[in-house]
Amino acid sequence: MNINPRRTPLIAGNWKMNLDHLQAIAFVQKLAWNLKDAGHDFAAVEVAVFPPFTDLRSVQTLVSADKLPLAFGAQDVSAQDSGAYTGEISGAFLAQLECQYVIIGHSERRTLHNESDEQVAAKVTAALKHNLVPLICVGESAEDLAVHGPSAVPVAQLRAALAGVTNAADIVVAYEPVWAIGSGQAATPEQAEQVAAALRGVLADTLGQDVADKTRILYGGSVKSGNIAAFMREPNVDGALVGGASLDIPEFSSIVRYQKHVDL
Ligand code: PGA
Repeated sequence: MNINPRRTPLIAGNWKMNLDHLQAIAFVQKLAWNLKDAGHDFAAVEVAVFPPFTDLRSVQTLVSADKLPLAFGAQDVSAQDSGAYTGEISGAFLAQLECQYVIIGHSERRTLHNESDEQVAAKVTAALKHNLVPLICVGESAEDLAVHGPSAVPVAQLRAALAGVTNAADIVVAYEPVWAIGSGQAATPEQAEQVAAALRGVLADTLGQDVADKTRILYGGSVKSGNIAAFMREPNVDGALVGGASLDIPEFSSIVRYQKHVDL
């Protein structure tokens, strides 16, 4: 099933702080074999992994040597290009490692590292400058949801994140309710659709209908093989950002192959 032929679904695995570079090599090799063995059509459903920074060179070498049809990216990027920023990683370095994507504004960075909407916007601009596709995460806490209702906070976060984005930009948006991340309690497909539709409205408002139509909006938060198909049936959900379940090869492969294992 591909509800929206203009948008190729994307299943993205956010490893967070898991798997060192040696584990990453074994993992990516097995994942690619597993999906190839199963006859996965990578052009029909794109697969991307987001390892820790220290794994990226190994993943790049493997993907390029074995011509694996997997995309990969980083979990964060500096807003700066170079200079006295101890501990930061430049988008230029990520581009050199052939990263296609970079996650920006994940809720763990917003909460644990106090990243502001302004910093998120600056990072989005930096990613685009280096031809990296920013995977912009937005999402509300349980308290936000109770106080502001659905979509208010994600909509405001997306507007802020797009401050420096032009309508020529290639971006991906991920709606990840904070209360659903790692909790085992996913949003309902209807909740995900409601917010994804509102986010598409923001894209149309700020970047134009054309960009809104072609930009992929992912859902993230306790995605598993058992619930992915229901999310993918929603017209505004174009994929998933998967955390915990992306570390289990059979489970992640099954999520990637949602079109095959569940009746749609
Ligand atoms: P989860 O994490 O799938 O473990 O809920 C999602 C994420 O944080 O991107």
